[in-house]
Amino acid sequence: MYTQAMDTGPQEARQAVRSAEEAALETRFEARIDEGGFIEAKDWMPEHYRKTLLRQISQHAHSEWVGMLPEGNWVTRAPTLKRKCILLAKVQDEAGHALYLYAAAETLGSSREQMIDALHSGRAKYSSIFNYPTLSWADVGVIGWLVDGAAIMNQVPLTRCSYAPYARAMVRVCREESFHQRQGFDSLLAMMQHGSDAQRAMVQDAVDRWWWPSLMMFGPPDGESVHGAQSARWGIKRISNDDLRQKFVDACVPQAQVLGVTLPDAALKWNEARGHHDFGVIDWAEFWRVVGGHGECNRERLAARVKAWEDGAWVRDAALAHARKQAAREQAAKDQAAKEPVA
Ligand SMILES: [Fe+2]
Ligand SMILES: [Fe+2]
Repeated sequence: MYTQAMDTGPQEARQAVRSAEEAALETRFEARIDEGGFIEAKDWMPEHYRKTLLRQISQHAHSEWVGMLPEGNWVTRAPTLKRKCILLAKVQDEAGHALYLYAAAETLGSSREQMIDALHSGRAKYSSIFNYPTLSWADVGVIGWLVDGAAIMNQVPLTRCSYAPYARAMVRVCREESFHQRQGFDSLLAMMQHGSDAQRAMVQDAVDRWWWPSLMMFGPPDGESVHGAQSARWGIKRISNDDLRQKFVDACVPQAQVLGVTLPDAALKWNEARGHHDFGVIDWAEFWRVVGGHGECNRERLAARVKAWEDGAWVRDAALAHARKQAAREQAAKDQAAKEPVA
C-alpha cells in the first residue's frame, strides 16, 4: 500500500507522509462513494470500512451455510419426488450462496479457514432465524415464503452495495432467492387449496411460529442499530432496518390473503394515513436471547456444522493431495519438454 521509500525515513516524518497520503486517499474514497461508484478489492479503503464489510459478508456467508440445516432435515421426508427434487436444489443453492460470499469475504483479507474457525468457535454470528426448529413439512414452505422472502427484501438493496465483489455476489444470490420464495409459496398454496383440514392447520401453525422471527430478521429497530448510520454513509446499507421491515409486512399481508392464512398479530391493520400496515410490538427480548445463544437449536446447529467439517476432512485432504499430484505431473512434463532438443 505504501512505497518502500516512505518506510526508510525517521518515524515522525514517515507518520506525517502517511497521514497526508492517507487523507488524500480517504478523500478520493469518500468522493467515489458519494457519486455512487463502486470499490473494488484492490482499491484503497479505510480499515474500518474493510472490517465492517468483512464482518457483514462473513456473517452473511455463515447464515447461508447454517441455513441449509433446518430444511435439510426434511429432504428425506419430502411428501413427493417433485418436492424432494425442489428442496434438494434449494438447499444446494444455499451452499452455493455461502461459497460466493466466502469468496467475496476472502477478497478483504480473511482466509476461509479463519472464517470457519470463527463460526465453529462461536466468535462469529449467523442469522438467528436458523436457531428455530422445523417441526413439520409446512415449515419448509413457510421458510421459503417468509424467511427467503425477508432475505430478498434485505438483499436486493445489497446488489447496489458500494463494495463491488459483494454487490456482484448478491445479484446471483437474489435471483435464486426469488425462486426459493416462490417455491415456498407454491408449496403452501398447494396445501391450502388442495390439502386436508389437517394440512391447512399445519400451515397455519407454521405461519404462527415463523411470522415474528421473520420480522426479527431485519435486525433491531433503527434507533438501536449499532452499525446503521456508518453503513448507510458508506453505501453498504441503503435502506434502514425499520423501512425494510415495513416493506416486508406490506408485501406479506396480501400474500397471506391469497393463501388463506392469518398472520398472528391482532394489531396488524392498514393505516390509510401512513399508506402502510401498522403492526404489533416485536418481542426484542426473545431476539436478544436467541442471538445470545439461547434459542432452541443454537447448540444443535453449531454441533452439526462442526461435525460436517470434521467428517469432511478426508475430502479436503484428498482434494489437496490430488491438486499437488497434478501440479507435480504438470511440472515434470514441463521439465521434460525443456530437456528435449528443439527440432
Ligand atoms: Fe440463500
Ligand atoms: Fe434461499
